[in-house]
Amino acid sequence: MQIGNFSIAPGAALAPMAGFTDAACRRMAARHGAVYTISEMVSAKALTFGDKKSARLLRRGEDTPGPYGVQLFGAEPETMGQAAALIADKDFDFYDINMGCPAPKITSSGAGSKLMLDPELAGRIVAAVVQNGAGRPVTVKIRAGWDAQHVTAVEVAKACEAAGAAVIAVHARTREQMYQPGIDLDIIRQVKQAVSVPVLGNGDIVCHEDALAMVEATGCDGLMVGRAALGDPWLFGRIAAALRGEEIPPMPTLTQRMEAMRTQVYELCEEKGDWAAMPQARSQALHYMHGLRGAAGLRRACCALEHFEDLDALIERVYRENPLGE
Ligand SMILES: Cc1cc2nc3c(=O)[nH]c(=O)nc-3n(C[C@H](O)[C@H](O)[C@H](O)COP(=O)(O)O)c2cc1C
Repeated sequence: MQIGNFSIAPGAALAPMAGFTDAACRRMAARHGAVYTISEMVSAKALTFGDKKSARLLRRGEDTPGPYGVQLFGAEPETMGQAAALIADKDFDFYDINMGCPAPKITSSGAGSKLMLDPELAGRIVAAVVQNGAGRPVTVKIRAGWDAQHVTAVEVAKACEAAGAAVIAVHARTREQMYQPGIDLDIIRQVKQAVSVPVLGNGDIVCHEDALAMVEATGCDGLMVGRAALGDPWLFGRIAAALRGEEIPPMPTLTQRMEAMRTQVYELCEEKGDWAAMPQARSQALHYMHGLRGAAGLRRACCALEHFEDLDALIERVYRENPLGE
C-alpha cells in the first residue's frame, strides 16, 4: 500500500490517541513494527493562534522510524488550510485529518465526528489541506457515521477521495456509539468498495486473529490499532507476521515488558521533563501491568508515580509479585 510516495509494508499503523501517542509512545510502536504513526490530534485554530503547546505535540521526536503523520482537527476549510501551511516546514511525512473524535468539546465546534454529517464540508477541508500542504499526502480518519440514522462513511470517504485524500482509515462505529458496542465490519467493506485509495480498518483489534478477520471480512488494505497496542507494542510484529503468513513471534517476556516500559517512560521524561511527563507516564505504565498478578496493588503504585526514579520501585514490585513471569 502507498501513502503518496511512501510504500507501506503489510501491517498495522498506530492509531492517534490524544494523551497517549506522544513521541515516546510512537517511537516504541514504530520500533516494534507499526507501519506508520500519527501524532495526537491538534487544533488547527490553536496553531493559527501561535499556540506553542499545540505545535510541540506535533514534534516527530528523534530517531523515530517509519512514516509519521500529524493530525489536525477543525471545522473551517480556511483555518485548516492556514494551519497546514503554517506547519509545512516541520519534520513530518503526511497530514491526517480527524473526522472521528466524538468528544462534545470538539463536535460542538463542528469538528471531529461532526463532519460525518456534512460530506461536502469534509471534502472542502481535505481540499484546503491538500492545497496548502506543500505536496505532502493527506490522509483522513473517519467513523462509520454520526448515528444509526446517519451512517455516512461511504459518502464522506468518496468526498474526501475526490478532494485528494490519499488514504481513508475507518473506525467502524458511529459517533453515537463512542467506543461501544462492537464494530461494524461491513461499513469498512462498503468504504473499501466505494473508493480506490487505500482503506484502513480500525476498531477493537486486540490480537493478530482480529487483524486477519478484519482483512478477510472487509478486503481493507491495512489496519490501524489503538488501545491494544498500549503496553503491548509487540502486537504490531504479531499482526505483520500474521498478514505475511509467517510464524507468529512469541509473546514478550516480563523482562522485555518492564524494559520497554522503562525505556518509554525515560524517553517521555527526556522529551517533556519529569513534571509534565509523569501524569502521562502513569497511564502508560498502567497498560504495561495488564494481566499481571497483584494487579490492583500495581495499579495503585502506577497512579502514585511521581518521578522517573519511582519506576524502579514499581518494576521491583512487579518482579516480586510475579516471580515466575506471567
Ligand atoms: C484515549 C483515546 C484518545 C483518542 N484520541 C484520538 C485522536 O486524537 N485522534 C483520532 O483520530 N482518534 C483518537 N482516538 C480513537 C482511536 O484512534 C481509535 O480510532 C479507537 O480507539 C478505536 O481503535 P482501537 O479499538 O484499536 O483502540 C482516541 C481513542 C482513545 C481511546
